[in-house]
Amino acid sequence: MKSLDFDWRAGRVPSYTYFVDDETLDVQREAYGEYIAENGLGAGRAFKSLELMTDDIKSMAISLFNAPAAAGASFTSGGTESIFMAVKTARDLTRHRRGEPDGRYNIVACETAHPCLDKAGQLLGVDIRRTPHTAEFRADPALLRTSIDQKTMMLFASAPNYPFGTFDPISKIGRLAQERDLRLHVDGCWGGFLSPFAERLGYPIPEWDFRVPGVSSLSADIHKFGYAAKGASVVLYRDVEDQEHERFSFSGWPRGTYSTPTFLGTKAGGAIASAWAVMHFLGVEGYLRAAKLTMDATMQLIEGLNAIPDIYCLTPNGESNLISFATSDPKLDIYAVADRLEECGWLRGRMREPKAIQQGVNPAHLATVTEYLAEVRKAIDHVRGNVAAPVAYDEHSY
Ligand SMILES: Cc1ncc(COP(=O)(O)O)c(C=O)c1O
Repeated sequence: MKSLDFDWRAGRVPSYTYFVDDETLDVQREAYGEYIAENGLGAGRAFKSLELMTDDIKSMAISLFNAPAAAGASFTSGGTESIFMAVKTARDLTRHRRGEPDGRYNIVACETAHPCLDKAGQLLGVDIRRTPHTAEFRADPALLRTSIDQKTMMLFASAPNYPFGTFDPISKIGRLAQERDLRLHVDGCWGGFLSPFAERLGYPIPEWDFRVPGVSSLSADIHKFGYAAKGASVVLYRDVEDQEHERFSFSGWPRGTYSTPTFLGTKAGGAIASAWAVMHFLGVEGYLRAAKLTMDATMQLIEGLNAIPDIYCLTPNGESNLISFATSDPKLDIYAVADRLEECGWLRGRMREPKAIQQGVNPAHLATVTEYLAEVRKAIDHVRGNVAAPVAYDEHSY
């Protein structure tokens, strides 16, 4: 059945998969297989080894994101769960501090924030207020400021955001959070395991982690550019005491108290083992190597796309590995170009505002840069020769 899929190893997929090399994939697979039956719910009781691995992953994350040594951290199943936990923690902490057991609050974010924030908001009864982005596709601190009211509990910033790959001005937002006594969550789910290494390679990565005063929590996905098997992310809290409000506990059944640190009950032991094994296998050196491949591919793609007549990249700044390209030719439909590329085996992401083709870049894209750029040129020629071709845009495409 795999023959039905787009070929992610050959750089044909714009996100979903993050492939550095076969060796790392083998480490992922072997560690996952070793723990295929073990359950993270029993970490520390039945499975001491899973607790040791989880604690080690948390310490590595605390150090990588420049959190205080005594910071709190949780291992979760992905970006969605990490952000859900940050919202739940903020809500329950705010209810506790304000003495309002059923208090309803809001979070102020830029419209570029990932939709899992709204998913968390809907499920937790927290309102999400989105403000327009600037012309540079970043959060506008002045607009965030005007959306704050008495019920605001947290600001939310992306580092970087998924649509454009730009970083919100975290330092300014951190100052705003401190000034208004609000929490600030930084979503590093996409770039968390890339940015620290791209920064060391000299890319212009703005300060975004716990070095920024005012950041109270941060999420980063190990199953993206940490190259672990799916089901691995971390959420960190500057103040370990906040974590009291992250945990779920329930005693109203005959079996006694049931308590979980995060959302999941049963948790894949394989996901913990794979994250732990890959983090040790790659180490700083391996992540630097992967970041170089990723950013080399990104910069080559940006340069090559900008060299195509009537095509331009929206954010050609080397701040992240997310790129989008649009057209300056009003007669050329960029979605028709995406459709044509998909007919030729290149799955493409579509941006709605502005209309553009968007993708994340991983090391698997490097080997195919030249081939892909030639395919884009061919797809444009094809569309120009078939201007009446229908344009299918799936609203649900990612
Ligand atoms: C910036 C950002 N935040 C959150 C998420 C959600 O992560 P997940 O799909 O692992 O739940 C993503 C996923 O791409 C993301 O790019």
